[in-house]
Amino acid sequence: MSNIAIIGGSGLSKLPGLEIINKIDMDTPWGKPSAPITVTKFHGIEVLFLPRHGNPHTIPPHKVNYRANLWALHENNISEIIAVNAVGGITETMTPCRIVIPDQLIDYTHSRPDSFHEENLSEVKHIDFTQPYSDSLRQQLIDAAAISELDIVSTGTYAVTQGPRLETTAEVIRLEKDGNDIVGMTSMPEASLARELEIDYACCGLVVNWAAGKSDEIITMEIIENNLREGMGQIQTLISTFIKNKE
Ligand code: HPA
Repeated sequence: MSNIAIIGGSGLSKLPGLEIINKIDMDTPWGKPSAPITVTKFHGIEVLFLPRHGNPHTIPPHKVNYRANLWALHENNISEIIAVNAVGGITETMTPCRIVIPDQLIDYTHSRPDSFHEENLSEVKHIDFTQPYSDSLRQQLIDAAAISELDIVSTGTYAVTQGPRLETTAEVIRLEKDGNDIVGMTSMPEASLARELEIDYACCGLVVNWAAGKSDEIITMEIIENNLREGMGQIQTLISTFIKNKE
């Protein structure tokens, strides 16, 4: 039986039928995770929740202690992570409020502590990252979306930018030429740290705005928050079905 954790997405620890069992406030060799981990039960299955940006939401993407978060989940024997990430839409089908399950990413972040393999090594390690997201978990999410009749996009490339500012129009044009479909700030180094710990990891992206220059609108927090609120119901449905399918 796999042990499942969900990272991110305030609102997710409020799934109907979900029972909160415990909170784990812990430390790791890499520092403290963003918040205590919430242990829950859903249809008899234990699911852990970790809010990436803290509770309340105060830690910006470039300041998240990704190593502490992943280490804490690993210490709790997690073998599968579904990460929920708010993203901007670049290509045509990546419309606001749509869920995207990316299959690739390009990492544009810098200066983030991004590996557990840095010091006191007995050997140098290079993880295989050809497929940055777990195909099996992605497929389970895609199947759950079909069962729930959610109109999601089942592939795409996620550009991971440093933030916390949003992009310029020229940067988004370059990201599109590079082959990216969505842009966000949080999939790296989360995905590669999960791979270092041999945890299966998939991303559930929720498009919360058109990327810079892709619409006539200025991107405001109001637009982002409204779409986040509107799309969170679909994310809740998708994740509930994904977990129920594990029964
Ligand atoms: N760019 C980067 N990160 C984001 C965006 C965006 O447009 N929307 C939500 N997260």
